[in-house]
Amino acid sequence: SPRNKVCILGSGNWGSTAARIIAENVTKLPSFDNTVKIWVYEEIVDGKKLTEIINTHHENVKYLPGHKLPHNVVAVPDAAEVVKDATHIVVVIPHQFIQHLLDTIHGSTRPDARAISLIKGIGISNQGMTTMTQIIHRTLAIPVSSLSGANIANEIAEEKYCETTIGCSDPDEAIVWRSLFNTPYFQVNCVNDVIGVEFCGALKNVVAVGAGFIDGLGLGNNTKAAIIRIGFLEMRRLAMHISGAQIQESTFMESCGIADVITTCYGGRNRRLAEEFVKTGKSMTQLEKELLNGQKLQGYLTAGEVHSYIDSRGVNDHFPLFTNIYQICYEGKPPHSIFDGLNVDFSND
Ligand code: NAD
Ligand code: 13P
Repeated sequence: SPRNKVCILGSGNWGSTAARIIAENVTKLPSFDNTVKIWVYEEIVDGKKLTEIINTHHENVKYLPGHKLPHNVVAVPDAAEVVKDATHIVVVIPHQFIQHLLDTIHGSTRPDARAISLIKGIGISNQGMTTMTQIIHRTLAIPVSSLSGANIANEIAEEKYCETTIGCSDPDEAIVWRSLFNTPYFQVNCVNDVIGVEFCGALKNVVAVGAGFIDGLGLGNNTKAAIIRIGFLEMRRLAMHISGAQIQESTFMESCGIADVITTCYGGRNRRLAEEFVKTGKSMTQLEKELLNGQKLQGYLTAGEVHSYIDSRGVNDHFPLFTNIYQICYEGKPPHSIFDGLNVDFSND
C-alpha cells in the first residue's frame, strides 16, 4: 500500500484551489494514497454544513464557487483527525489563525510527517519577526517548507498558466513537494530558501495595500509602478534586515518575489479593498466583512506587524512606504501622505 498520505489544512479560496491540484496529482503518484482529507473550518451555508456540501456536491460553494473538486477530496471538520495519518501536511489558512490551529493539532501529527506552508503572513514575537514555517516548526517539530508565488487562486482554478516557488532545504523533499503541486498550468520552481520565499509572500501584501490606495486616489499606472518599485525594494530591505544571512537575493526574482508583487497590486483582494478604503472611508475590517463573504485580508494586518517591528527598532526612516501605509490604515493619515519621504536611496542595498 502507498507509503505517503497528503492532507490539507484550510479550505478558503486558495486552499480549495490547491486541493484541486493536489487531489488530481496524487492519483498519478503511486507512493501516495488517493484520498486527500481537507480540514474545513465548519460553518453553515444555506442551512447546511459546509463539510457536507463539499462531500455531497464536490464544490466549495462559499470559497471557490463554480469549480468542482475531485471526488477524492474529503472534507473533515476536525483538524486533529485530518493530520493524524498524514505524512505530508499542506497548511493554507489566513495567518491570523495559525497558532490556534497548531494548538488543536499539536500531539496528533506523525513524528515522520512534514509540512509546507502556503500562507502569506508573518508573526511577531519577543524575539522579533517569525515566519509561518518557523511558527509551525516550533509547535510541531517537523520539517517545514514554503510555497508562494504570483498565484491569484481564481485564475489558477481556471487553469490559466502561472508559476510558483517552493522553498525547501532538502533536495529530495523538494522533488516530492513539486510532484504534488506541479501541473502544466502551475509551474513550480524549487529554491533552497524557505524563509526568503515566505518573506516575499507576506510583505508584498503591504505593497498591495499601497497600490490600492493609488487606485482609490485615481492616480494612474506610472504612480502605481513607482509604489510597486519602492515597495519591492522595501520588501527586500526588510527581509535582509531581519534574516539577511539566511536569505538568497535571487529569491526576489522568482515568482514569489517580483511576479507576486505585480499580480497582487493589479488583481488581489488587498488591492481591491484598499481602493474601497480610500473611496468610502470605511475601515479595512468593515470592508472585509461587507465585501469578501468570509474571505480574509492579510495586508493591513501585516502592515501592523511590520510596523511594530520597524518601530521597535527605530528604523522607520529606512521604510517610509511601509510606515506611510501603516499610518494611513491605522492612524487616520490621509491617503495622499503615502508619498511622504519616499525619496530613499536603495543603491547600497
Ligand atoms: P480565504 O481568505 O479565501 O478564506 C478564509 C478562510 O478562513 C476560510 O476557509 C474560513 O473558513 C477560514 N476561517 C475563518 N475563520 C477562521 C478561524 N477562526 N480559524 C480558522 N479558519 C478560519 O482563504 P485563502 O484565500 O485560502 O487564504 C489562505 C492563505 O493563502 C492566506 O495567507 C492567503 O494570503 C494565501 N493565499 C491566497 C491566495 C488567493 O488568491 N486567495 C493566493 C495565494 C496565497
Ligand atoms: P490577495 O490576498 O490580495 O487577493 O492576494 C492573493 C495572492 O497572494 C496572489 O498571489
